[in-house]
Amino acid sequence: MVIAVIGAQWGDEGKGKIVDLLAERFDIVARYQGGHNAGHSVQIGDRSFVLHLLPSGIVHAGKTCVLGNGMVIDPKAFFEEADRLMAQGISVTPERVKVSSRAHLILPYHRALDHTSEERLGNEKVGTTLRGIGPAYEDKAGRRGIRVADALVSEVLRSRIERNLEDANRIIVAYGGQPLDADSIFDETSAMVERLAPFLCDTTHFLNQAAARGDSILLEGAQATLLDVDHGTYPFVTSSNTVIGGALIGTGLAPQHLTGVLGIVRTYTTRVGEGPFPTEMLDGEAEMGQLIRERGREYGASTGRPRRCGWFDAFATRYAAEINGFTSVALTKLDVLDALDEIKVCVGYNLDGRRCDSLPSVSQDLRRVEPIFEKLPGWKSPTLGITDLDALPPNARSYIDFLSERIGVEIGLVSTGPERSQTIVVQDSILDGWLKK
Ligand code: IMP
Repeated sequence: MVIAVIGAQWGDEGKGKIVDLLAERFDIVARYQGGHNAGHSVQIGDRSFVLHLLPSGIVHAGKTCVLGNGMVIDPKAFFEEADRLMAQGISVTPERVKVSSRAHLILPYHRALDHTSEERLGNEKVGTTLRGIGPAYEDKAGRRGIRVADALVSEVLRSRIERNLEDANRIIVAYGGQPLDADSIFDETSAMVERLAPFLCDTTHFLNQAAARGDSILLEGAQATLLDVDHGTYPFVTSSNTVIGGALIGTGLAPQHLTGVLGIVRTYTTRVGEGPFPTEMLDGEAEMGQLIRERGREYGASTGRPRRCGWFDAFATRYAAEINGFTSVALTKLDVLDALDEIKVCVGYNLDGRRCDSLPSVSQDLRRVEPIFEKLPGWKSPTLGITDLDALPPNARSYIDFLSERIGVEIGLVSTGPERSQTIVVQDSILDGWLKK
């Protein structure tokens, strides 16, 4: 059984909790794209963990975690996170953590270039996490990147750092920064890569073998569908393929192993960083945005930035369902809406007086669309911690049914709080089969 868990919106839908909930039933949890730009929060009892680079499955003893070939790995961030988790009593050892030898490295000049690139863009900046993600993927596509395994060969590492830094320093200096020193980057990187060596693995072979044996694998997406470099709101996106196609490329798993795709959808929408956001609560709705931000604790797990908040966008989520072929959906953060009198849901967009058939591909158009809203009554009573669908207020059930119908996918799980136990497993869902395994 291979299940992918993928965010349907602009990230922060609550993947960490859902992956954590499902991880118990899987042998392996693998990430397939991105790097330490992700921020997955997992709450277990009174302990909370924030994961940036390692799969959320790491907090479950006995699970094998894979960092796939589609990822970009900052070795410094890897060991900082590993050391922090070890101090919290979590084992991070080569026996249970496998890092693809084909993953690309993020080096200090990538971080510097991320800053420069954002400065150059000025008002048009993407609002990246400044972790060097984009520049590392640029080097990968430009065929000058350094894979983790390459870095174990000293001559290769040294010559690539020298060559890449020559170009990087030109840009850094032109924009008023201090040039970086190749020798110190080489020394620092080779020491860390040596420490990383025991974790390296041909993860493609490892995962295909595991799937063929019948081991269960959970593929953990980071960021989300609308941040996908091809299918998202380009250019305000991350630099990897977050959607289901990326899961196959970023792990090397053969497609026939895939059993299902679980979309993670939150009852409202947020976005961090810049870029169009048609249902954003602005101007007259700023107070509502602030209420949602506080109730949902919507501050970036990686950067601490306040997240922009907006109404549920069923039109964009339907698009995400189409690309990913969601076989089920986990709907998160229902309880955050408990205080609302009335809830708006965007069911379509108008552009220049005409209804859009699909999501506009040009970001300038997406900024101009007028969302078409439907209004639903709130339920004004607490749903926090409810575990039974029948115990929900009728208006909350109607809201869930409305979203399901609008996005065209059955809802298999509803999350009613940050804890594992605060979850409704919807009985007649396909997810039930996965959960029983
Ligand atoms: P980058 O991934 O750092 O290059 O940032 C590109 C865009 O993706 C920016 O808008 C970021 O705010 C956004 N982004 C990156 N990682 C996450 C995440 O984990 N959650 C939400 N947004 C993210």
